[in-house]
Amino acid sequence: MQFDKHALRPLQGDGRKLFVETYGCQMNVGDTEIVVSVMQAEGYVYTDRIDEADIILINTCSIRDNAEQRIWGRLAEMKRLRRAKPSLLVGIIGCMAERLKEQLLEGPCGVDIVAGPDAYRDLPRLVREAESGGKGVNVLLSTEETYAEIAPVRLDRNGVSAFVSIMRGCNNFCSYCVVPYTRGRERSRDAETVLAEVRSLFENGYREVTLLGQNVNSYRTGEVDFPELMRRAASVSPLLRVRFATSHPKDMSDRLLETMASMPNICRSIHLPAQSGATSMLERMNRKYTREGYLDRIAAIRRYLPDCSITTDLIAGFSGETEEEHAATLSLMREVGYDFAYMFKYSERPGTFAQRHLPDNVPDAVKSRRLSEIIALQNELGLAAYRRNVGREFEVLVEGPSKRDAGKLSGRTSQNKVVVFDRGTHGVGDYVRVRITGCTAATLFGEALD
Ligand code: 5AD
Ligand code: SF4
Repeated sequence: MQFDKHALRPLQGDGRKLFVETYGCQMNVGDTEIVVSVMQAEGYVYTDRIDEADIILINTCSIRDNAEQRIWGRLAEMKRLRRAKPSLLVGIIGCMAERLKEQLLEGPCGVDIVAGPDAYRDLPRLVREAESGGKGVNVLLSTEETYAEIAPVRLDRNGVSAFVSIMRGCNNFCSYCVVPYTRGRERSRDAETVLAEVRSLFENGYREVTLLGQNVNSYRTGEVDFPELMRRAASVSPLLRVRFATSHPKDMSDRLLETMASMPNICRSIHLPAQSGATSMLERMNRKYTREGYLDRIAAIRRYLPDCSITTDLIAGFSGETEEEHAATLSLMREVGYDFAYMFKYSERPGTFAQRHLPDNVPDAVKSRRLSEIIALQNELGLAAYRRNVGREFEVLVEGPSKRDAGKLSGRTSQNKVVVFDRGTHGVGDYVRVRITGCTAATLFGEALD
């Protein structure tokens, strides 16, 4: 039997095996690591083999309908697993749990546990309920929960780069977006616990951290705002790279750019979701900036950080989108010359402002055509951005062997571009100067200079 070392009480999990499947954004990846930490403290053991699990948790995403459809598909699969192993418990956690609540307990795919994004400390109790034949449900949102002092169990295992959650929730209420409803109000995690986690990662060999939140620029606890938090994180060691995601253009301040420019180990890479290139559309989206305002921020980035890569998110076919508005998105893309973009077809989400007041009236075929035009243009812009790097030298942080060719190493530049080069005597976690000799639209190839 497993015991709690301090209290000498038997641990609830007693070695039972937990498997977690994660969908959606990097915040969810970070949340899964917290969930595993909470469950391990109760004596559950993590397994990466679904077939040997006693409990399966599915950490879900609600951002677009197709994300939810995939999860319904997985739940049907779980039914089959449960038939083969009747003691198996299945839980839905995360955004979809928050959005659908009791609905998930009913019907043919009925699950045993439903836990929203702020209920993870309560998981051992919810599992206990389920183990004694009931249903474990907690979808309460909190205005304070940041899981500040919980040490995430790192599951990625590259041992070089890690995500550190610095805030949760979102107060922006973009009219299309379900996140403020599923993840609740914005709250910042205590700076000391963030920095302690960053230091401990560095001491354990990590060389890159990404500070994560839905809108990191509005981070604040006491005296510490986001530029200050970045400065402190980057001061842990010049050998530690620091990144962040995601920024909202309305809050992208000159002070942050100044801080970035003053510290070479803050990565030259900014993800600045535009969503659309038309001011009229941005207004319907409730983005709180104009096309000109957005371009002003891009100009500021170029001024402070001339070698910074810029990536974005774009939505095709939001409510009432005209051909002119769509053309404005294409022209914005050309004007900025994005290195990379996540591109989506608008998907109406229940409960959002748009679902209540702005009809989803762009025909699906038109949405698809516009999205393919956006993707085709981005392929062109992305390839041009990669080609501009050929002949240049970069410092590359090695993450591991190349997936395609184990004889080569793969790492990233400060601009977040993947570089593949000859192994030489270098190893994981090393910084290597590499000259770029060629590229595809997603990878740079080079030769090590030292
Ligand atoms: N439909 C399509 N894309 C969406 N996003 C957010 N909500 C929706 C939606 N309803 C996109 C935005 C956001 C990214 C995380 O997902 O581009 O930046
Ligand atoms: Fe959604 Fe807008 Fe918040 Fe991003 S900033 S999570 S798009 S509401």
